[in-house]
Amino acid sequence: MTSKQYILGALTALLFASCSDDEKVVLKYADEGDTGGPNPITQTLKEKAKFKIGAAVKMKDLQNEANYKNAVLKHYNQITGEFEMKMASIWTSSTAYNYTAADYLVGFAQDNKMEVHGHTLVWYDSFPEWFKKAQYDSIAFEAKVKIYITDVVGRYKGKVKSWDVVNEVFADGGAMRNETVINSLFKDPIGFYGRCFRYAKAADPDAKLFYNDYSVVMDAGKRTSIKKMVARFKANGVPIDGVGDQFHYATDTNRQTMKTGFTDLASTGLLIHISELDIKVNTGKSDSYVFNDVENQKQAETYKYIAAMYEELPQTQKFAISTWGVTDKYTWLTSFWHFKEYPLLLDADYNKKPAYQGFLDGLK
Ligand code: XIL
Repeated sequence: MTSKQYILGALTALLFASCSDDEKVVLKYADEGDTGGPNPITQTLKEKAKFKIGAAVKMKDLQNEANYKNAVLKHYNQITGEFEMKMASIWTSSTAYNYTAADYLVGFAQDNKMEVHGHTLVWYDSFPEWFKKAQYDSIAFEAKVKIYITDVVGRYKGKVKSWDVVNEVFADGGAMRNETVINSLFKDPIGFYGRCFRYAKAADPDAKLFYNDYSVVMDAGKRTSIKKMVARFKANGVPIDGVGDQFHYATDTNRQTMKTGFTDLASTGLLIHISELDIKVNTGKSDSYVFNDVENQKQAETYKYIAAMYEELPQTQKFAISTWGVTDKYTWLTSFWHFKEYPLLLDADYNKKPAYQGFLDGLK
């Protein structure tokens, strides 16, 4: 045993002392552990899972980096455009759509027998500038959105398996977000969102339609509002199939709260999508943070916990677990928020991290 292995063993033993049997993950890095045991690390997530394993991808990275593309093909069987299928990307003017990137992603998925999860049709944060400036009244606004949904969902009918029809309606705590134009235009914003589901359904009756938000399982107030909306949709025949919780969580996210919230969300009976999973490790947001073995271990256990929790859903409610990105080299936490972070399953060289093994161990 080398001294590094010894220290690692001692640290691991220390960590194990503080967690139950179910939570243990044997720390493994790429190229280790292919000994033919019950969970050989050569097995991929998509091979083991009985539901889809997705990744948010970017067209540019698929086109420019063979390793990125190969990693997507190896580990995943569902893709989501990280921004390419948002309204601001597609709807470039009141009279034009730019489908270049969305078509590429859908074609890539078709060529490789993967599913596409479309993200997202109506999101306050992705209305195009021209649309915001147009200052439509509620009638004109809804007419335009209806055309957009009809055109986009119709174009990918049968090719995009599922859509986030509406993203992030509620603020933290569960009130309606007040920064969205929809709230000032419509007396009954939920009624408007329900009609968006109907427009999507009319354009592709077979697509699975989701409401997507963040902190759904952690924020009881927000979850209550979502459940109320879902109940109203069901009572009125609004075609909603599922709810996505983004799952941008961290190694120190409270697991008991997570599980309680997850069970409560599942009580809707709808499909449940873990839709944008990444697990932050640098919880203190420090520039001097070091992602060492102990931190890898914590992250692996968090991924294991989440996968095992998802497996407890009735089979009929399982849909997909999708990670928000492919490699720590390109995570939105760094590019968008500028955090020093390592939240995904593959390291910057596309090697499987312990988190990958944790996820695999959590699957049935
Ligand atoms: C983020 C992307 O990762 C960024 O690249 C983009 O610039 C901004 O949006 N919740 C969502 C996603 O629903 O659409 C967001 O994606 C991350 C938070």
